[in-house]
Amino acid sequence: MILTQKQIELFDHDGYLILEDFVSPKACESLRHRALEIVENFDPAESSSIFTTNDQIRHSDKYFLESGDKIRCFFEEEAFDKNGKLLQDKKYSINKIGHAMHDLDPVFEKFSRTTELAQTVKDLGYKDPGILQSMFIFKQPRIGGEVSFHQDSTFLYTEPLSVKGFWFALEDATQQNGCLWTIPGAHKKGLKSRFYRSENGEGTEMEVYDDSAWETSKLVPLEAKTGTMVVLDGLLPHMSYANRSDMTRHAYTIHLIEKEAHYPESNWLKRSPEMPLRGF
Ligand code: FE2
Repeated sequence: MILTQKQIELFDHDGYLILEDFVSPKACESLRHRALEIVENFDPAESSSIFTTNDQIRHSDKYFLESGDKIRCFFEEEAFDKNGKLLQDKKYSINKIGHAMHDLDPVFEKFSRTTELAQTVKDLGYKDPGILQSMFIFKQPRIGGEVSFHQDSTFLYTEPLSVKGFWFALEDATQQNGCLWTIPGAHKKGLKSRFYRSENGEGTEMEVYDDSAWETSKLVPLEAKTGTMVVLDGLLPHMSYANRSDMTRHAYTIHLIEKEAHYPESNWLKRSPEMPLRGF
């Protein structure tokens, strides 16, 4: 076991767990380096797709909906001027890379599939986990967009629910550069909405089960030093404010599901049959 019984209880109670020094600074550095290479090789003419969680229409573009088994770059919403021209260098314009680096890129694969992580995942109760998606999040200086309140199970839905997020601070994440925020214990309140593909498969919709507001007075920041891993229950609401500082806030996140859980066809994230879900 890597986790103590107390940590497992804390995770059940709060819906998250902060594990400092989970990965080495060297591993963080190599992932950041590789992400910048991917951006370097990315041709912006390929797509000007942006990532924003402020509007559900955002996800209706093909570039996003077909990215479940690919490596694709998404721009920050504020990266362009009103004529659609990049306001700063490409490497300071990308919001994130997603969503299958853990299967397609050797550096990301190595970072995502360590014996320490496999054991931690087991300690958390997974029987036969599969890594469903990976995202490298840049949270760029000054334009790093806000990620509004959401539960990961809204987007990565299984029956029964089984998603958990594993979020790695590749640099110190602080309140200045847009760290995560959450409401401890709010994962007990159930799933509030579900995001799915519309029947023609080309668009997406949000089904709301509970439109009550989150208790934002109970928000706490999850500041994290480089090398920290934060585990998030799929039902735990979390968000991050825009980064208006001069610093980046690089983070990497993977989402796991239980392979034996039912994965509906209507989920936005699709993988080709040639790329079956893999664990560790
Ligand atoms: Fe999330």
